[in-house]
Amino acid sequence: MVRANLLSVIMLMHVIIGLPYNVKGLSMGYYLMSCPAAEQIVTNTVNNALQADPTLAAGLIRMLFHDCFIEGCDASILLDSTKDNTAEKDSPANLSLRGYEIIDDAKKKIEARCPGVVSCADIIAMAARDAVFSANGPYYQIPKGRFDGKRSKIEDTRNLPSPFLNASQLIQTFGQRGFTPQDVVALSGAHTLGVARCSSFKARLTTPDSSMDSSFVTTLTKTCSAGDNAEQPFDATRNNFDNAYFNALQRKSGVLFSDQTLSNTPATRNIVNGYAFNQAKFFFDFQMAMQKMSNLDVKLGSQGEVRKNCRILN
Ligand code: HEM
Repeated sequence: MVRANLLSVIMLMHVIIGLPYNVKGLSMGYYLMSCPAAEQIVTNTVNNALQADPTLAAGLIRMLFHDCFIEGCDASILLDSTKDNTAEKDSPANLSLRGYEIIDDAKKKIEARCPGVVSCADIIAMAARDAVFSANGPYYQIPKGRFDGKRSKIEDTRNLPSPFLNASQLIQTFGQRGFTPQDVVALSGAHTLGVARCSSFKARLTTPDSSMDSSFVTTLTKTCSAGDNAEQPFDATRNNFDNAYFNALQRKSGVLFSDQTLSNTPATRNIVNGYAFNQAKFFFDFQMAMQKMSNLDVKLGSQGEVRKNCRILN
């Protein structure tokens, strides 16, 4: 209740003191005249959905990353494949993405109030922000005004980072998009929520190395005995946004190779230790990095459109 009231106050302050957050043609008050209810509709839709299934917070946050990292934050991840085009969402890297129905639901409600005004890309960005807060994470501001892209191709998803990259490869991949090593570690902290399937980490089990705790190897092996789709939580509190993920890395109990590598490498180890020690520092850096992620290569005006249905081009 206190958090809900706090959220309303923050949302009002958004618009009043939002000017410093306006970037690249986006603005805090973008829908103030054209669809003032948009922000609240997204927040309510996300909160209701996550009350029914808290595990979907992870899905929404991951959706933002997979949208923004490929072709920018333009809702290209939401487009369905057609007979002439296989879309991003059908790539193996995206098959376990979750939460599409929440975006559809918010879009439907918004279209009923103000048709053709609020982009699907803005809805994803707002929904991810609300999911972080709903899981007890930090609240951060995002400007609006993204347009929806018209391209969604399976081959573009080769640019999503593989879970077998080491820290310097992760730093390079994210660095090409303007992220610092600190951003990489903070953003990886999104793995404080959710699960990985056995297929994403089983290769680590054939030749376990000294960077893996031996009893954790047993845990992962047991998970995989139920098959490739068996789910392993990233940390002990899979629905709570906290710094337990970084504590797990310190205990050599990171699920993915790309998680554990962060605490094995000098360039990132101190950042991991800092977040494990100080959750507030993790929250602060995570918000900054998510703001950066939410603004990645956004499309403006004639570079895109406002889709009527997030799954189909107009
Ligand atoms: C650093 C590079 C990253 C790699 C290699 C990576 C890889 C993965 C993999 C392999 C999974 C499990 C997928 C499955 O087995 O179904 C996963 C899950 C997840 N990822 Fe990442 N990820 C990265 C960064 C991020 C970032 C930047 C975010 C968000 C800001 C994020 C959010 C999530 C979340 C929340 C889940 C859990 C999803 C669920 O439970 O549905 N990841 N990631």
